[in-house]
Amino acid sequence: MTTNLLYGKDLRSDIKSALSLCAMVVTDENVARLYPEFTKNAYVIPAGEKNKNEVTLFALLAEMDKRGLKRDDKIAALGGGVVGDMVGLAASLYMRGIAWVNIPTTLLAMVDSSIGGKTAIDFDGIKNLIGAFHAAERVIISYHFLETLYEEDWLCGYGEMIKTCLLTEKSYALLIENLESIVEYDRDAVYALIEECIKIKQAVVCADPKEKGLRKILNVGHTVGHALEAADGYKSTHGEYVLKGIMTECTMCKDIVDEEFYNQIISVCKRFVTPPRSSVSSVKGRALHDKKNYGDMITVMLPIAAGNILHVRIAQHDFTERYDSAIKELKKA
Ligand SMILES: NC(=O)c1ccc[n+]([C@@H]2O[C@H](COP(=O)([O-])OP(=O)(O)OC[C@H]3O[C@@H](n4cnc5c(N)ncnc54)[C@H](O)[C@@H]3O)[C@@H](O)[C@H]2O)c1
Repeated sequence: MTTNLLYGKDLRSDIKSALSLCAMVVTDENVARLYPEFTKNAYVIPAGEKNKNEVTLFALLAEMDKRGLKRDDKIAALGGGVVGDMVGLAASLYMRGIAWVNIPTTLLAMVDSSIGGKTAIDFDGIKNLIGAFHAAERVIISYHFLETLYEEDWLCGYGEMIKTCLLTEKSYALLIENLESIVEYDRDAVYALIEECIKIKQAVVCADPKEKGLRKILNVGHTVGHALEAADGYKSTHGEYVLKGIMTECTMCKDIVDEEFYNQIISVCKRFVTPPRSSVSSVKGRALHDKKNYGDMITVMLPIAAGNILHVRIAQHDFTERYDSAIKELKKA
């Protein structure tokens, strides 16, 4: 399915008309409180990653059934990545798949999760273990939602934004040029980077919708990032772990990363997060469970220079040594 993607500074009227065509709107408790103009009669789920699970999913499916949704009805997600991932998965399951509209309200969801049709819940302590590819029919990205974000959710979005900017030379140059401005939350700089990230993500997922090849580059920082996130009990935001993942994976494989690029990317990550502290014993098992792996090697998507992402497979014993020395080096630096 091709997604109709609309983005801009203030698309409130487009959102209202899109929502009026949906049989059900789903949001979370925070978005419901902040944006009552869009959430009248909405089904409200509890906020946060800890609720991206089978309990919330089945409660949502039961509500869709209770409201009598039919196969040709549409459902809308209005919220961050948690609401989008969950509603997308419910839409893929209900009556074997109904159409859905995604209206992202966090920076992370605008630059990343709302584009590309990946939907999921966490299960058995593993992130996104149960999911489906089910692209939204329409995505409306309106930057006005950013005005109510908490600082930690800005930081979370910056994580995925910085990751995406590593994928092309042009976006990397734009990131470096605007780094100080985004630290200061300068809106023009943020909007320019959002638009660059949307274009990159859209191009990548159109070329490889089911992650058979090229799309794997979007997993930069995510092998170690996801493992750190679970090992740490999801204490910080997803985007912060992505940045910790990028700095750790680049340091683990420093021997093949361009030196100037390495120094720059470590200092970019350190503007936003501190190096990870989790022990290799708490990280390796989780990294081994990563969906990108095959055989008993651990796969990382490694940026070796701006716009140059290498698929690297690390043997388990090598992972232990490299992780341990990376953590020591990052702590020292
Ligand atoms: N499907 C994908 O391709 C993909 C890609 C990246 C991340 N993800 C997933 O996205 C999730 C993270 O998304 P997220 O960071 O948006 O988290 P989130 O949905 O939990 O939102 C973060 C917090 O911000 C609040 N919020 C939402 N919009 C707001 C607004 N406009 N103003 C103030 N507060 C607002 C939420 O209530 C929540 O408390 C993770 O579960 C991750 O796995 C999915």
